[in-house]
Amino acid sequence: MELKDAIFKRRSIRRFKEKPVEKHILMQLVKYGMYAPTARNTRSWHFYIVSNRDKLDEVAKKHPYAGMLKTAGGAILVCGDKSIEPMDGYLALNCANACENIMLGALEHNLGTCWIAVYPREERIKLISGIFSLPENHLPIALLAVGYPDEEKPIPERFEKEKISIV
Ligand SMILES: Cc1cc2nc3c(=O)[nH]c(=O)nc-3n(C[C@H](O)[C@H](O)[C@H](O)COP(=O)(O)O)c2cc1C
Repeated sequence: MELKDAIFKRRSIRRFKEKPVEKHILMQLVKYGMYAPTARNTRSWHFYIVSNRDKLDEVAKKHPYAGMLKTAGGAILVCGDKSIEPMDGYLALNCANACENIMLGALEHNLGTCWIAVYPREERIKLISGIFSLPENHLPIALLAVGYPDEEKPIPERFEKEKISIV
């Protein structure tokens, strides 16, 4: 798939076929994430590959906007590592870059993804840290649901010329 097609075709997928995503594919997606740019090239992140059905169901039950995990075949929890980068803002930016790489790369494997918000909401950081027993230095930024799509979404028109200034 050409990069521009992936950019335009990526949509949040919230209905998946109930089929696990192979571990080696989740690993490959994490590898895409690790090639994202980071401030000072700190690569200040840690990735949790989640295949455990009970964990996916637990998040779906306790997080208000994570219902799609009931059918997702896996997930990737993207955390910032505070022991490498002390500023939360940089952790969030670095991890967001990794997330976009993962979401675009997933299309190459015919997978859909959906970003589940964690950072910066304190109650969700607490919730996710508890469910995954995260060490102190891992700040959960986003949980990405991954799975084989059971819905199709069109490419929306999003080009907004008025949001561009040529200076
Ligand atoms: C920071 C962030 C937080 C998000 N949180 C959630 C979430 O908790 N649950 C969800 O279903 N979608 C979530 N989304 C997905 C957005 O709703 C989605 O990207 C947006 O509506 C645009 O749709 P598209 O991804 O299909 O282009 C989040 C996206 C971002 C970037």
